[in-house]
Amino acid sequence: MKKLVSTLMLLMFATQILAAGDVEKGKLTSYTCTGCHGIKFYKNAYPSYHVPRLGGQNEAYIISALKAYRSGDRSHPTMKAQAASLSDEDINNIAAYFTSVK
Ligand code: HEC
Repeated sequence: MKKLVSTLMLLMFATQILAAGDVEKGKLTSYTCTGCHGIKFYKNAYPSYHVPRLGGQNEAYIISALKAYRSGDRSHPTMKAQAASLSDEDINNIAAYFTSVK
């Protein structure tokens, strides 16, 4: 029984590490993002170029994409400008938020 309890506690701890980002904060930070990354229709309203869908995306993927834009490894003028002002914490929160949106 003792062993089961400690295994469960370990599992709970591990899940918390995975969900490091704060969904509520991410929601606030990503307010500007959703203007382009409209979650429902994932197209910009006007001009109607395609914008990748972020809602329900893989958390690790969003984190690495934003860091790549910020560092310049991935070049796209719009997204570089967006990512430039984000801290690592902002990026984690944003990723947690978009991952939570289905
Ligand atoms: C002015 C419109 C616009 C805004 C605002 C914007 N984005 Fe983007 N975003 C784009 C476009 C266009 C792309 C596709 C760029 C490319 O082809 O690399 C993109 C790509 C991305 C990607 C990569 C997606 C993929 O599938 O590879 C992520 C992640 C992302 N944006 C996150 C954000 C976040 C977070 C914000 C807010 C801080 C934001 N974007 C704000 C237009 C925008």
